[in-house]
Amino acid sequence: VKACVFASGTGSNFQAIIESENLNCEIVLLVCDKPGARVIEIAEKYSIPTFVFHPKDYTSKAVYEKILVEKLKSAGVTWVFLAGYMRLIGPELLDTYEGKIVNIHPSLLPDFPGKDAIGQAFQAGVDKTGVTIHFVDAGMDTGPVIAQESVEVLENDTIHTVTARIQKIEHTLYPKVINQLINESEATLCAKEL
Ligand code: GRF
Repeated sequence: VKACVFASGTGSNFQAIIESENLNCEIVLLVCDKPGARVIEIAEKYSIPTFVFHPKDYTSKAVYEKILVEKLKSAGVTWVFLAGYMRLIGPELLDTYEGKIVNIHPSLLPDFPGKDAIGQAFQAGVDKTGVTIHFVDAGMDTGPVIAQESVEVLENDTIHTVTARIQKIEHTLYPKVINQLINESEATLCAKEL
């Protein structure tokens, strides 16, 4: 099974996915919309092909997403995992990869969608936040939830300590959920063939 990761940041989740033992898919492509992002260096280190683009170079999302669909198809990609890709996904990708685009978000959705979810939770003074993995739809962090894991916010926590705790969970939860999703979908495919 071939998969692609979309990421634009430091790439700690991307790295956790590709370094995960017994991952049941091959990450054949990194898509990145921020030239210069650190995640690109990680891909290069692991010899994973990258497609780096600047959305502003295209007249619309539909135009660049059509190109992305072609890249993904020609690489044989069947799953798309978002890991810090800070853009909404449009109909070109959503229709082609229906039910196959997954995102990780650092809060217990539906709480604190959007940017700086950890900062939002911290500001709100919650005593619990966490990580959500969900299917992607046209909204911002709104698709059906696949898995959630909570993280306590303690009295003497800072944003940094909470962030570190959240990231630690992200790095084990995402590869685990990827394996589960692919196992389930392969099992369904086999059952259909019988
Ligand atoms: C993660 O917190 C993820 O949940 C969010 O963006 C962040 C990406 O971090 N969607 P990294 O680039 O994987 O370190």
